[in-house]
Amino acid sequence: MTGRLYLDTAAAAPVRREALEAAWPYLAGAFGNPSSHHEFGRGPAEALTDARARVAKVLGMRATDITFTSGGTEADNLAIIGMALGARTQGRAQSQGRAGTAVPPRRHIVTSPIEHEAVLASVEFLARVHGFTVTEVAPTSDGTVTPEALTAAIRPDTVLVSLGYANNEIGTVADIPTLAGIAHEDGVLFHTDAVQAAGWLPLSGLGVDALSLAGHKVGAPKGIGVAAIRARVPVEPLIHGGGQESGRRSGTENVALAVAFATALELAEAERHEAADRVRAIRDEFIAVVLGNVPGAFLTGAQGTAGPDGRPARTPNHASFCFSNTSGEAVLLELERRRVTASSGSACAVGSDEPSHVLTALGVAAEVAQTSVRFTFPSSITYDQGRAAARAVISAAESLASSFA
Ligand SMILES: Cc1ncc(COP(=O)(O)O)c(C=O)c1O
Repeated sequence: MTGRLYLDTAAAAPVRREALEAAWPYLAGAFGNPSSHHEFGRGPAEALTDARARVAKVLGMRATDITFTSGGTEADNLAIIGMALGARTQGRAQSQGRAGTAVPPRRHIVTSPIEHEAVLASVEFLARVHGFTVTEVAPTSDGTVTPEALTAAIRPDTVLVSLGYANNEIGTVADIPTLAGIAHEDGVLFHTDAVQAAGWLPLSGLGVDALSLAGHKVGAPKGIGVAAIRARVPVEPLIHGGGQESGRRSGTENVALAVAFATALELAEAERHEAADRVRAIRDEFIAVVLGNVPGAFLTGAQGTAGPDGRPARTPNHASFCFSNTSGEAVLLELERRRVTASSGSACAVGSDEPSHVLTALGVAAEVAQTSVRFTFPSSITYDQGRAAARAVISAAESLASSFA
């Protein structure tokens, strides 16, 4: 939509033309099934192999680690449920194999209360249907799970830790290599939801067993994601059938979207450093102007832009506020009138007008959490657009001030 400033890329980023162009042949002439052994299957099979290898390269993982899924939600489900049940099955086999040396089943999972619903609901499923126990580690008020808190939560029967890399609502970035290292010291598997990190933060060298990605956050169309799970880790599949994707996800593969995903991810990675530096500067100015001019506004999540070790404390494109004494919906409406599109938080909980579970878990009162507004900038944003957005927020807040006074 021309003339509108779209500041909700955490919900969906603009689709990259290159991704669509790369996908097109596999939607048209090269329509064969990649599992077919004849000529028509060969091109799609090669394209799928190539896409897998390209994704693996960006992640610093092996092609055999990559499972294409329908999106981030399925990737989280497969990684969490698949690894927890896979480890349980393996543990049982081991304990049966060696008489007298029974391996106690590991049936405890560690996560945090500010994870995406796809993570929390997967863990809840394991608890409800498979009898796992769960510890939700309390984050600090800016949304950080500290190494000390994770260490304290891990038990002898912990099988899996799942902690997000970049929070979708407040943008806080976790120190994944340190947290994964803590889990591994105790032989515990580590998964991170990296859906909001892709294109903004490094995806390789994290030292994780599994990570999740979603195509529509990096410029691929909706309907494709990746569960990258080390091939050596046993995974119980969620979808059963013909054994595609190394048996981890049956069903004829979506070749066109896998190719689109690989293309978009590669481009996002190639542009990452330049985009992150530029967008961070525009975003920092935006935050400073809003906080300096809107009475009662406060930033949610990390307060600085860099952590003590120089890592970004918040994703470079992310600014989230509470506008106390107003309502988030009212601010969004006023912004729409000024041709600025933002969001009240997660777009992923359908039809929910409940206060954000993330903000309430961080100690924000429910009525204040209802005033939250999230701005997530596209990588193409300019300084002029960032300043125009700040002016729109100030003007929206001014026109609401009288009605909420
Ligand atoms: C952090 C995070 N995880 C998972 C998802 C779910 O991804 P999808 O919408 O592709 O299922 C989202 C969606 O916004 C997200 O932000």
